[in-house]
Amino acid sequence: MPNDDSRLANLLHETRLFPPSESFRKDANFNDDSVYDRAQQDPEGFWSEQAQHLSWFTPFENVLSWEPPHAKWFEGGKLNVTYNCVDRHRQGPRKNKAAIMWEGEPGDSRVFTYDMLGREVDRAAHMLQSLGVQRGDRVTIYLPMIPELPISLLACAKIGAIHSVVFGGFSSKALRERIIDADAKLLITADAGWRRGALIPLKANADEAVVDTPTETVVVVQRVGEKAGVTMQAGRDVYWHEAMAKAPSAPFPAAEMDAEDILFLLYTSGTTGKPKGIVHTTGGYLTVANTSVRSVFDMKDDDVFFCTADIGWVTGHTYIVYGPLSAGATVVMYEGSPDFPGRDRFWDIVEKYGVSILYTAPTSIRTFMKWGAQYPKAHNLSSLRLLGTVGEPINPEAWMWYHEHIGHGRCPIVDTWWQTETGAAMIAPLPGLTATKPGSATRPVPGIDADVVDENGQSVAPGNGGYLVIRKPWPSMLRTIWGDDERFRKTYYGKFDGIYLPGDGAHKDADGYVWILGRIDDVINVSGHRIGTMEVESALVSHHMVAEAAVIGRSHDIKGQAITAFVTVKEGIATGESLVAELKQHVAESIGAMARPEEIIFTAELPKTRSGKIMRRLLRDIAEGRVLGDTTTLADPSVVESLKAQYRESE
Ligand code: WTA
Repeated sequence: MPNDDSRLANLLHETRLFPPSESFRKDANFNDDSVYDRAQQDPEGFWSEQAQHLSWFTPFENVLSWEPPHAKWFEGGKLNVTYNCVDRHRQGPRKNKAAIMWEGEPGDSRVFTYDMLGREVDRAAHMLQSLGVQRGDRVTIYLPMIPELPISLLACAKIGAIHSVVFGGFSSKALRERIIDADAKLLITADAGWRRGALIPLKANADEAVVDTPTETVVVVQRVGEKAGVTMQAGRDVYWHEAMAKAPSAPFPAAEMDAEDILFLLYTSGTTGKPKGIVHTTGGYLTVANTSVRSVFDMKDDDVFFCTADIGWVTGHTYIVYGPLSAGATVVMYEGSPDFPGRDRFWDIVEKYGVSILYTAPTSIRTFMKWGAQYPKAHNLSSLRLLGTVGEPINPEAWMWYHEHIGHGRCPIVDTWWQTETGAAMIAPLPGLTATKPGSATRPVPGIDADVVDENGQSVAPGNGGYLVIRKPWPSMLRTIWGDDERFRKTYYGKFDGIYLPGDGAHKDADGYVWILGRIDDVINVSGHRIGTMEVESALVSHHMVAEAAVIGRSHDIKGQAITAFVTVKEGIATGESLVAELKQHVAESIGAMARPEEIIFTAELPKTRSGKIMRRLLRDIAEGRVLGDTTTLADPSVVESLKAQYRESE
């Protein structure tokens, strides 16, 4: 069970309730409460109905076949995701509607109507095909937040190739590992990316990553130009703009994919050092992504949707690309950092593009709180009508600040709980129906049978906590872990028979509302990014001076959790500030800057059980200055006292 007593105590005192306003309810897409009951009584009927919002080349025959833990949704159905997200809109009144309004960090911008987007995507599909990409092949995409990123995703989907996006903040080693695991034949990257005016050397990272991998071709988007100083390797590297210029401008026929064909892989951290390639399929994923923007985000044709996530994470996949575009919406996509050139950049974007729905992470909201309300105040935010949050538990203070200073008390807030594995939001209010409580993701969305259960899988009574689970299969559930079905079965279906275990602890309040408490496994959530403790530990012990390392997440005011590493060095190695810096850098280079430990504590020994297991919970207690619980299983209790003393010293 999660050990976050302070969050729980705080939450249980929360009594504020925010019912939807009558005017919001009246116009909401989902404003009839009976949808919850209907979906609960007949989830397959509900999802089959929602799937009708997509265009199918061939209708499906069978809604669900379920042989736990393997689900197949919409069998017999044939469709193409890109046809649904782009081409069908080009044939109607949305043809010249803005699909993507893109804002570059340096201030450049580009707008793509659905028709323009369609032409770019078709050309890119021709280009990829001429470079040898075929249906079922894996393509790795390592790009900054530029238009070529969604264009690449959509081009892959048009061909029926499987994309695997690797966040641009990952190191070359992390990229390499993902390329090899996916067995990807082609990589799309950029010369470099912009971040706070500085360059991120994506091509240089890619050069290191692809050596001796199955990747034979590297397509390079020129984002920065000469300044990036890249070298192109003849026979392997091609410039995007050159290859695009050679590609035919004719329409690219959409591949007729089976509903269960794989749409994408997306790697996420787990309890071992090896990242998991989460597998999502065509029909089920798109159905729930599409339903979610219509229900949770109440998307209408005149909305402008700004999701601040990076497409390198699942939130960007579902809520920048597939969800909104399948619904024919207009999205805003921003390349850079929220504080560049000033701390009002997001509010400037909201004003400039008339954003009506804003979706961001609690860690960003806490940062905005720290910067102060003067930044949003300097802008006209009256276009906003709905706000969302995702990625980690939101503290009620941040929720209230968002509500007052961004939503001006007028915009409902949808706190959406979900995961890479679930494909789309699973627990979230429907803004026209659900009264919200600051800090609670409220209740499962229609068609999702989520609950909080005890050790035996029994539903806990209101007022109790336990494991978050999802009892029944749902269309956008992961189908497996790429290349490791056994790990899929064990990780998600190993604890309760036929019931999905997300790995989060939760509390159910007297009204049946769900309060997410945090991970119950060895995964840390730093600023909404999932990082496995084992990944950081392996990075640390790969340094030649390190003997052993234990990594924990401790509470952090802005990031939610921060990484603390306890490290023992090899005999004769001198510890000190410079080694701290070196080890932090080593982790950043091994994984990516987001995994850089906040603090490193050198210790002569790590607290272990008699069977030799590192007691992480104890380390967490030490790092958070909590009173220590039972330490009787410790092999050497004196280790704790010396650790506590050392930790205090280091502060
Ligand atoms: C956490 C991101 C509380 C949770 C979409 C989950 C949340 C993990 C929330 C998934 C939320 C996500 N409230 N916790 N609203 N949303 N989480 O795969 O621990 O990057 O298991 O997907 O983030 O992270 P992932």
